[in-house]
Amino acid sequence: MALPWALGILSLLPLLNAQSAPCHINYSVPITNATLDQLSRKWFYIASAYRHPEYNQSARTFQTAFFYFDPDYTEDRLPLREYSTINDKCIYNSSYLDIQRENGTMSKHEMGKEHFGHLVFTKDPSIFMLAAFPEDKQNMGLSFYADKPQATQEQMRQFYENIMCMGMDKSEITYTDEKKDQCGPLEKQHDEERKKEKDL
Ligand SMILES: *[C@@H]1O[C@H](CO)[C@@H](O)[C@H](O)[C@H]1NC(C)=O
Ligand SMILES: *[C@@H]1O[C@H](CO)[C@@H](O)[C@H](O)[C@H]1NC(C)=O
Ligand SMILES: *[C@@H]1O[C@H](CO)[C@@H](O)[C@H](O)[C@H]1NC(C)=O
Ligand SMILES: *[C@@H]1O[C@H](CO)[C@@H](O)[C@H](O)[C@H]1NC(C)=O
Ligand SMILES: *[C@@H]1O[C@H](CO)[C@@H](O)[C@H](O)[C@H]1NC(C)=O
Repeated sequence: MALPWALGILSLLPLLNAQSAPCHINYSVPITNATLDQLSRKWFYIASAYRHPEYNQSARTFQTAFFYFDPDYTEDRLPLREYSTINDKCIYNSSYLDIQRENGTMSKHEMGKEHFGHLVFTKDPSIFMLAAFPEDKQNMGLSFYADKPQATQEQMRQFYENIMCMGMDKSEITYTDEKKDQCGPLEKQHDEERKKEKDL
């Protein structure tokens, strides 16, 4: 009489699922050209939570920021143009990220160090996240980017879900404020310069 027993187990399953919502982030999904094609556009930095003291401090200096990943990437480099507003001033930086394809990570050399981020995607292609030190409770962090200056409630929910999945708390999150942006005029000037170059 295996059937009643099996049915008993099955009827318990929904209950178990509700109690411990399955939560798993894959931090090492390999990066392919398709990933980079999806990333090659304009992004807005929306929010982040960092426990690493240096990252925590650094994240709080950004009033707002947007950036472009350019489509002329190579096997191991992704060009990056950043427009950050810090202390009510626009700071423009053009650089690149190193790509560790098989590890699903990207890194940036800054202040004599290499800083790594694990790419984290959801089903929504108009957002992505970067996780830092995901296995290290003391130093972990997650930043959140969207293709619009304001994320929808559903997109925020996906960010919160990952924050909690990592074991962090919503109260650790710092938000940017797009109203503080000072980089609009510079971006416009750059756009016009690029257009002129193309027309030549
Ligand atoms: C992570 O994702 C990659 C690619 O989809 C897969 O090969 C790998 O098995 C996954 N790892 C885990 C722990 O789920
Ligand atoms: C991050 O910095 C803020 C402001 O200095 C501080 O209140 C907070 O405790 C820091 N978070 C962590 C996890 O250290
Ligand atoms: C991925 O893109 C790079 C740079 O454009 C190119 O050299 C490489 O051949 C591409 N790889 C595949 C598998 O399409
Ligand atoms: C801009 O680039 C310089 C040189 O790499 C770096 O020192 C500085 O921290 C960067 N600023 C921002 C806001 O990324
Ligand atoms: C990828 O991860 C492995 C294991 O952590 C490491 O040994 C290797 O150096 C990494 N590869 C790159 C290109 O960073």
